[in-house]
Amino acid sequence: MRYLVITVTIVLCHAVISHAQTLQPQGWDAKVKLTEAVDLNPDPHVVEINLRAEIAPVDIATGVRSQLWTYNGGLPGPLIRARAGDRLIVHFSNALPQPTTVHWHGVQVPIQMDGVPGVSQDAVITGGSFTYDFVVPDAGLFWYHPHVMSAAQVGFGLYGALLVEEREDTVHAPDELVMVLSDVAIDNGKLEPPDSGGVLGDLLGREGNHLLVNGKERPTLTFRDGALQRWRLVNAAKSRYFDLVLGAGQPFMVIGVDGGLMEYSIQRERLVLAPGERIDVLVAPRAESGTPLVLRAVPFNRGFGSVEFRSVEDLMTLTPAALPPMAAAPLPQVRRSIERTDGNGAKPIRLNLVLNKGEGQFGIEGGPFWEGTRVRAELGETQLWTITNKATWDHPIHLHGFFFQVLDDKGDPVRPLAWKDTINVPADKTMRFLVRLDRPGSWMYHCHILDHAEAGLMSTVDVGKVKEGSHEAHSH
Ligand code: C2O
Ligand code: CU
Repeated sequence: MRYLVITVTIVLCHAVISHAQTLQPQGWDAKVKLTEAVDLNPDPHVVEINLRAEIAPVDIATGVRSQLWTYNGGLPGPLIRARAGDRLIVHFSNALPQPTTVHWHGVQVPIQMDGVPGVSQDAVITGGSFTYDFVVPDAGLFWYHPHVMSAAQVGFGLYGALLVEEREDTVHAPDELVMVLSDVAIDNGKLEPPDSGGVLGDLLGREGNHLLVNGKERPTLTFRDGALQRWRLVNAAKSRYFDLVLGAGQPFMVIGVDGGLMEYSIQRERLVLAPGERIDVLVAPRAESGTPLVLRAVPFNRGFGSVEFRSVEDLMTLTPAALPPMAAAPLPQVRRSIERTDGNGAKPIRLNLVLNKGEGQFGIEGGPFWEGTRVRAELGETQLWTITNKATWDHPIHLHGFFFQVLDDKGDPVRPLAWKDTINVPADKTMRFLVRLDRPGSWMYHCHILDHAEAGLMSTVDVGKVKEGSHEAHSH
């Protein structure tokens, strides 16, 4: 009898694993799939990889080859896969002609691993190396990029995705696609200089002239009509916002954002991602008779100069496979219990984003000197940040090292509850969030339009005792 029970259990486990069967045709994602980093460590709880920043030839489309700045020779960098709680070891080496670092956007790393020279880590010089070694505590889609001259380096191609999966899958969508959205400015086969357009370029935030999904211009995905897919997207562009629409406005079920799954899911026909943001959606694309199904980017109005003379652009073409369509079914809902951050007694922090007249540069009120704009926090303190944007354009503000919960105008938590690390603050608007600052260090907050960050929209929150005078050599 006992043997029988064991046998039944094994069979059941098997059934659970193999029930996640693909519904898509073979090779459905071959033209868009990311290259994955090779895990060199046999321990199932350790992911150990090599990552090398180097200039390499990249084809963003057939016949469009350029020398780009890459991780491991590809655009984007390799997809790193781990599970929540794993230890990630990255042997990083720098073969670029400039110093660089790797910042792990959204990951709650210890401060020594945060990748900001002058604040948390020395720059890795040309020919140098550094070993990043930390635990990835939370599930979600994260990404990595340099924090040295980042407008230039990210714009040249240095970014990649880090997917941290739940230890226990609650979504059950077997067909998953990670999509790194970006753009690149190439003129006559050459990268455009990072200062093109001068001060006006800084103000507008430079966008590339080629839109990319996983480093490809207008790639193709084959799909089975009506079969469920999970898309996990990150906006790695240095300035561009993505406002996405599928076909004639097919529905997406948004199940997660920056810091993993949300409290509950919400259906949307448009997906907006500011630079740095991530989104996790379920979608069951339907063939639209007579027209190819296209994922498009609609111009997003982030202020003066951002939509004029712009048109809708195609991002990816979806081709229906010769398989029988799936029966119509509502998109599934996904739930996660998220604890509300307690705002009682939260320390109020007010930040005003401003345009410094005369210099034509951005700033945080109280600046330009670091002393005036850095936020201080006791270790473990909860703060209520109120960010008002008086700086003409929208600014996506990113906080390193922590997730926060967004509040509405009345100070109530925005539902569904979700963990965010990057939030768009529209022009002339105020955004609020609660954050519990429970890990020591000097953590950056800045606009993720990287030209804006470099033009002054950045500072730090110093949690616990932070060495004074540790900010001078700071280069973003
Ligand atoms: Cu995504 Cu300070 O960075
Ligand atoms: Cu900005």
